Amino acid sequence: MKGLIPEEVIDEVRASSDIVNVVSDYVRLRKQGTNYVGLCPFHNEKTPSFMVSGDKQIFRCFGCGEGGNVFSFIMKFDKLSFPEAVRLLANRAGITIPEEDDPAKNARMKEVNEAFEINELVKDFYQYILINHQVAGEARSYLKKRGLTGETIDKFQIGFAPPSWDSLLKFLNKKGFAPEKLEKLGLVLARSKGKPGFYDRFRNRVMFPIWDIRGKVVGFGGRVLDDSVPKYLNSPETVLFNKSHLLYGINKAAESIRRNDQVIIVEGYLDVITCHQSGISNVVASLGTAFTREQGKLLLRYSQEVVMAYDADAAGIHATMRGWQLLDDLGCRVRIVSIPDGKDPDEFIRVHGAEEFTRVIRQNAQSLSEFNTDRAMEKYDMATLEGKFKIASEVIPSIKNISNEIEKNEAIMKLAQRLHLSPEAVRAEVEKTPRGSRNSWSNRDKITASRNNNDNRVPGGVASKEEDARSRAEESLLVLMLSDSNIFLKVKEEIGVHFSSRQEYLNITNLLNEILENELDYQPAVLFDRLQDESTTEILKRLLLVEIPEENRDQVIDDCIRTVKEDEIRKKREELLRRMEEADKARDQELRKQLLLEYTRLI
Ligand code: CTP
Ligand code: MN
Repeated sequence: MKGLIPEEVIDEVRASSDIVNVVSDYVRLRKQGTNYVGLCPFHNEKTPSFMVSGDKQIFRCFGCGEGGNVFSFIMKFDKLSFPEAVRLLANRAGITIPEEDDPAKNARMKEVNEAFEINELVKDFYQYILINHQVAGEARSYLKKRGLTGETIDKFQIGFAPPSWDSLLKFLNKKGFAPEKLEKLGLVLARSKGKPGFYDRFRNRVMFPIWDIRGKVVGFGGRVLDDSVPKYLNSPETVLFNKSHLLYGINKAAESIRRNDQVIIVEGYLDVITCHQSGISNVVASLGTAFTREQGKLLLRYSQEVVMAYDADAAGIHATMRGWQLLDDLGCRVRIVSIPDGKDPDEFIRVHGAEEFTRVIRQNAQSLSEFNTDRAMEKYDMATLEGKFKIASEVIPSIKNISNEIEKNEAIMKLAQRLHLSPEAVRAEVEKTPRGSRNSWSNRDKITASRNNNDNRVPGGVASKEEDARSRAEESLLVLMLSDSNIFLKVKEEIGVHFSSRQEYLNITNLLNEILENELDYQPAVLFDRLQDESTTEILKRLLLVEIPEENRDQVIDDCIRTVKEDEIRKKREELLRRMEEADKARDQELRKQLLLEYTRLI
């Protein structure tokens, strides 16, 4: 979002905020050649892969793939919006920004602030009822029965929604909030029958507030006191509540995740609460939905080491696999723990204690291939050779792509041991299996991921050799164009700026063109502020990670241009052949002759 800060002011702020200077306020940088390096503040690392370039005015991390200009850095580090970041840096540089007056934006800000205010009141209301009201007697004993202490109930701001149809409605009405507003926040519902009106969404439920990273209440989950369904009722999506971006407990766990350099992901609210209560505080839950990329990115701010402690039932396993893949793609090291006796963490801790739980996490955490071995061994008969090979073939894809040779070797040994096969036999099977299953450790390194990435391919289709070459050429051209305006001009002259069919690439070349035509600063850094669309920004970040050696540049450029040209010609020829066939079918001799002429001209 751009806000309404004038473009010239943004440019002035950028020009007065040297990225090396600014980043040095946050990260210890060391000079290395023309660049500066340091430990990446966006993921955990022990050797520096975070690089800041004074020439290009950009930063990038070869470990986690983050990258951008000075504004993106501040936005990410301080979790600010674009205008907020510009203001912060303007302040630092002593530049005054004219106060903006954007009615639409002000209205939205007001709505959000009011929503927070209401949620805060609602949380207090439910909390008050739980502690003080006689209607909450059963809820209090329920929570006690579940082993929660008064301190925990207070810390997690747990409350109770009374059974009546309108107690919250009345309470907020008295405070002057219109029911329509409350409906938008998912707190009340409009009556569908009878006389018009509203009623409370949450009734007779223990209420768990859900917070954002700053600990502000964005929504609620409410649990019944018995076995009725639905067991949990959650806030619907609202201006504040976006399930896919939230992790339950992250505000209380962040510090500990960083300190332990490990996060434990569990499934439920009560799993998180019981863990925290028993002193294990690097624990969050994914709010009962499939794990999302946004949630993964949120975690990556604190640690790459992820342990998933999901239920061992079918749904739990499915969720685990999906989450695993996603986190692995993002560059996390993921391990999986099956809690013994099919218990969830909350039940397990209540029976065996926290120490035992920690021990299980430490000892039972499995890599994906080990986890898959267990699953497959439940399915097939180990006693037969056939069964053994079936097991092996289910596990091998997850071994095949382990990029670290030592880990791969270890995985092979382990599988061999479990199947009572010789390591050589397993290794031979691994060699035979084609690469490319996504169930792998191979994407752990984001760089590997971006180098091998398939983004350039036609969605859903398998890319042909030509398409591969073409997209590699397009990528290299774009990387080079970004680094030097002369290269941009050369490419433009030879094949124009629309040489790619990828929308993201077009967005970038169009923007570069615009920048050159308006004689603006030719810097990739500038692009980040002008790109509106997230997927283009992601692509741009990735492109800035690609290094093309200085030597033979002209050769590389010419080769790439030729590849694109030849591919265009190939496509045209294919198209002509197709049309000739049609002309044949239609017995249109004249057209056929004409097409053939065109065709020969292309050769
Ligand atoms: N969940 C949900 N809606 C449901 C069921 C579950 O939103 N109808 C979410 C909740 O976040 C819940 C999590 O999925 O915490 C895990 O569900 P489940 O394992 O069924 O519940 P527990 O958290 O174990 O709750 P409890 O121990 O109270 O039974
Ligand atoms: Mn449970």
